[in-house]
Amino acid sequence: MLKVSKHIQDLKAYKPGMSLESIKNKHNLSKFYKLSSNENLAGCSNEVKKVLVKAIESAHFYPDPQCTKLKQNFSDFYKIKTDYLSFGNGSNEIIDILIRTYCNPIEGEKVLTSQGAFIAYKVCAQAARLEVKQCPLNKNLGFDIDAIKKAINEDAKIKIVFIANPNNPTGTYVSKDELLSLVLFCKDKNILLIIDEAYNEFVTATDFPKTLDWVKTYNHVAVIRTLSKAYALAGLRLGVLIANPEIISYFDKVRNPFNVNSLVQAGASAAIKNTDYLKQIYENNKQGLSFFYKSFDSLKIDYTKSQANFILFDCKQDAQDFCKQLLTKALVLRPLLPYGFKTQVRMTVGPMEQNQKAVKILQDYFNKA
Ligand SMILES: Cc1ncc(COP(=O)(O)O)c(C=O)c1O
Repeated sequence: MLKVSKHIQDLKAYKPGMSLESIKNKHNLSKFYKLSSNENLAGCSNEVKKVLVKAIESAHFYPDPQCTKLKQNFSDFYKIKTDYLSFGNGSNEIIDILIRTYCNPIEGEKVLTSQGAFIAYKVCAQAARLEVKQCPLNKNLGFDIDAIKKAINEDAKIKIVFIANPNNPTGTYVSKDELLSLVLFCKDKNILLIIDEAYNEFVTATDFPKTLDWVKTYNHVAVIRTLSKAYALAGLRLGVLIANPEIISYFDKVRNPFNVNSLVQAGASAAIKNTDYLKQIYENNKQGLSFFYKSFDSLKIDYTKSQANFILFDCKQDAQDFCKQLLTKALVLRPLLPYGFKTQVRMTVGPMEQNQKAVKILQDYFNKA
């Protein structure tokens, strides 16, 4: 047998939500409400579709390794210079590369995050043979910034801190003041603070931080965004890294040269220019969340208010069994055992007709129980 390090032996691989194909193969139902992976079920805009069809004509060429046009378009959109930008094959790849770039397992360097934070931070760190420290979430299921500072004070080996803002799977957020205090704290300790804003486009909170300004001021802050959520391009894979040019240049050294395919380079440029589409998605999400809040209130289901395109609720029973039962009724939800939540379930906001259908299935379930 070939030998594998203990980190890899102990690694619990990230388990994504079930794909539609695997659900269809397992269950004999023609239509499913797949509210399990925080995808944008409205699909991408017609403009993006047209651009993608055209881009296929050039698919025999390797993609532009510098993503020149894409970078210029994001630079215009974010109002930040092009040398503050790079891209990944989804933001997951950016997480992975930043960890490998900045944390050295031989020196015993570590990654710090929270127990209920997006799980890829832990998986990528362990795959890079690093130790991961996790602070508990606070009582409102948000990042506990004081606990994070305390953990940093107690361990000089912490090199990277990850904050998902808003967080998946809780939908909670860290306010501008709180996060700025952590930015300053990490600066003093020479720690890379990675702020993952995968759900930034859905945020309604007025005290949510404007982190792209911080990136220009602080050279230890990196922001990650994605086209997988609001922009409905999860299948094409594009993550955006916004950070000071030094971080970008190291990231570019480590990434594979053709990590961003030509279809997504074309499609994403069209997607970010379409501000009307984004407004519509934002409004639909706001309405979907208030519909869920109202419905859950009347069903007496406990839930956490969300700044993202999903909601976390307590099904008050084993969440895995609960989700299995709902699957037979064509509703696909996400149990969260790997995050340490035994009875909490995550449900994505979809187009209103799908939200209504999902609530109807939940009503029938709970009224019968
Ligand atoms: C907080 C957060 N970050 C990053 C990702 C990864 O997104 P992607 O790799 O599709 O860009 C997700 C996906 O669910 C997420 O919830």
